[in-house]
Formats: sequence, structure tokens, C-alpha cells
Amino acid sequence: MRGRFITFEGPEGSGKSTHVQLLADRLKAEGRKVLVTREPGGTCLAEKIRSLVREELDDPPVTRSEVLLFLAARAQVVSQVIRPALARGEWVLCDRFADSTFAYQGYGRGIDVGLLRNFNDFATEGLMPDLTILLDVPLEVSRVRLAERQAATSTAADRIEQAGVMFHRRLREGFLELAKADPARFAVIDSSGSRESVADAVHAAVGRLVDGTGIGGKSR
Ligand SMILES: Nc1ncnc2c1ncn2[C@@H]1O[C@H](COP(=O)(O)OP(=O)(O)O)[C@@H](O)[C@H]1O
Ligand SMILES: [Mg+2]
Repeated sequence: MRGRFITFEGPEGSGKSTHVQLLADRLKAEGRKVLVTREPGGTCLAEKIRSLVREELDDPPVTRSEVLLFLAARAQVVSQVIRPALARGEWVLCDRFADSTFAYQGYGRGIDVGLLRNFNDFATEGLMPDLTILLDVPLEVSRVRLAERQAATSTAADRIEQAGVMFHRRLREGFLELAKADPARFAVIDSSGSRESVADAVHAAVGRLVDGTGIGGKSR
């Protein structure tokens, strides 16, 4: 049987990496085979693209190059990692995927979302997630978390994290609109609560995917 493909979306500091890992641990404890990957990244070439798009501050890509770099990374991880794992019947959890392109380059940077969907389909050969967990937090919460993470890991904000408040506002609205337009695929989870309560809501959304009772609507 084909595995399940679950993506985590939301702005920086919304808890994606945290909850990908917590869900992977729970699914493994239930005896499922789980593969965790991330975007951009997940293969050797795609990780190099990740460094390029995040760190190239002296010579940043123009918006169209940024789109193509992200899509090049996506084409790699889809064909080399995600599709093979799904064919083996594994559960694939991916930290960001197509909706990040629609939100960041579409809603954030103003590229036509319909056009981005076509380019994305080319990169993925039409693969879309069975379930997308959108972790939604107010801007103030994600800002505080990011600052804490940067302090804890002694890292500076990367190029995209440094974008202005208005960009991040458009981004959040964009993610919410994408979810509203496709309630059968998205579970929108308020990620401003405790780690445990958010992890429970994520697990419950996955449970609804498994028992076929549907995903849509706001959890928690
Ligand atoms: N529900 C939560 N409550 C409190 N802190 C959280 C919660 N989820 C994540 N964090 C913290 O917020 C920071 C950002 O989370 P992270 O998972 O790295 O987000 P993302 O991958 O979306 O950028 C981390 O330091 C993490 O420990
Ligand atoms: Mg992360």
C-alpha cells in the first residue's frame, strides 16, 4: 500500500520542526515506518540549494531565481526521497512543501499563485500531500520564539527571517487563505498553546486521516 504524505507549514517559529519530530516519534511508537525530511533540503544537492537561498546575503537571488531554486530542490527531494518512500509504504513527514512556495513567493512576494501552481506541478509531477498541517501563530508569538531559538543556538536571523513585518503578515494571511481554499487537505492548528496540546491536535488530525472521518476545520 502507498504510504501517507504529510506536510507541515507555517511561518518561521510556528513549531514545524518541533512537531514534525514529535509526530514522527508517536507514529513510530505505533509501529509505523516513518521518514522525516525537510524543504528545501533532504538530498545532498537540495541541502546545497538550501544554503544558497538562505545565506546568500551579498548577492541575493531575484524573486524568480528564488522560485526556481526552491523548485529545483523540490524536484530532487520528490523524486529521490519522497516518492520512493511512499512506494515502500512509508509515512513521509516533510517540514515545508508546496504551500510555502505559494505563501512566500505568491502571497509574500506577489508572484501569481496560479503560475506558481503550474511550476510546482512540473517540479513534483503532480504529487501533493494527503494532509497538510498548518501551524498558525500570531506574529508576536513567532517573533518571540525565533528570538529565543536564535539566542539558544547562537545563530543570526537568515535572509528570509529578516524580511519585514508586513511581509510576515501577508505570509500568515496567505497560509490561512490556502487552507480555506482546500479544507479537505489542510488541518489548521493554533500553535500558540503548549507543546503537548499542539502535539495532541496534530496527532488527532492524523487520526482523522487514517479513519477517513475527514480533516477540514479548525482543531483545538
Ligand atoms: N507549542 C510550543 N510552545 C512553546 N514553544 C514552542 C512550541 N512549539 C515550538 N516551540 C519553540 O519555538 C521555537 C521554534 O520552533 P520550531 O519548531 O523551530 O519552529 P519552525 O520549525 O516552524 O521554525 C523552538 O525554540 C521551539 O522549541
Ligand atoms: Mg524549522
